[in-house]
Amino acid sequence: MSILIISGTNRANNKSIKIAELYAKKLLSKGIESEILSLTELPKDFIFSALYENSGKHPEFNPFREKISSFSKIIFIVAEYNGSIPGVLKAFIDGLKYPDSFKNKKFALVGLSSGVQGGALALSHLADILSYLNGNVLGNKMKIYKIDENFKNGEITNPNFDAHIDGQINDFIAF
Ligand SMILES: Cc1cc2nc3c(=O)[nH]c(=O)nc-3n(C[C@H](O)[C@H](O)[C@H](O)COP(=O)(O)O)c2cc1C
Repeated sequence: MSILIISGTNRANNKSIKIAELYAKKLLSKGIESEILSLTELPKDFIFSALYENSGKHPEFNPFREKISSFSKIIFIVAEYNGSIPGVLKAFIDGLKYPDSFKNKKFALVGLSSGVQGGALALSHLADILSYLNGNVLGNKMKIYKIDENFKNGEITNPNFDAHIDGQINDFIAF
């Protein structure tokens, strides 16, 4: 089994990618291979050049579509932006092949925020989108709240989080 981890923002120096790397490391310690897809790697103009009438015709965006279709289990790392998911993540999803890109795939969601919610709203909004697209979302969602206090130098500093992340990964492997 190999799992795709999507780091869901294109913000420079984002923390989502560091959380994605942490999950990849933890998966590997359980013998599970993974690959990270970071939205920082998207073609810069994709919102205008890869969506709608250009869907499926963009040579640099198409590999992202193919990557999604080659995995059956996907972890989303999703930061809370303005009480929801980052806009670039929704635009990315809008650029995938509709309506079957996520059909019957399995998803685990990890939220992060500077505030106290840990991305609860972002997780809820993304779960709605994935369910609408016939994806199966793991109930056990991780909320990394107060990210600046609880995550430093690539490591979780809140001991309560470690057990929860471990449990979520175990649940997702069994899902
Ligand atoms: C555009 C924007 C909107 C944000 N909105 C929220 C918010 O609604 N609630 C919150 O707790 N944090 C908010 N934050 C803080 C981010 O959740 C926090 O900085 C997190 O680390 C961002 O993830 P990233 O580093 O992967 O971009 C916002 C940050 C940005 C850039």
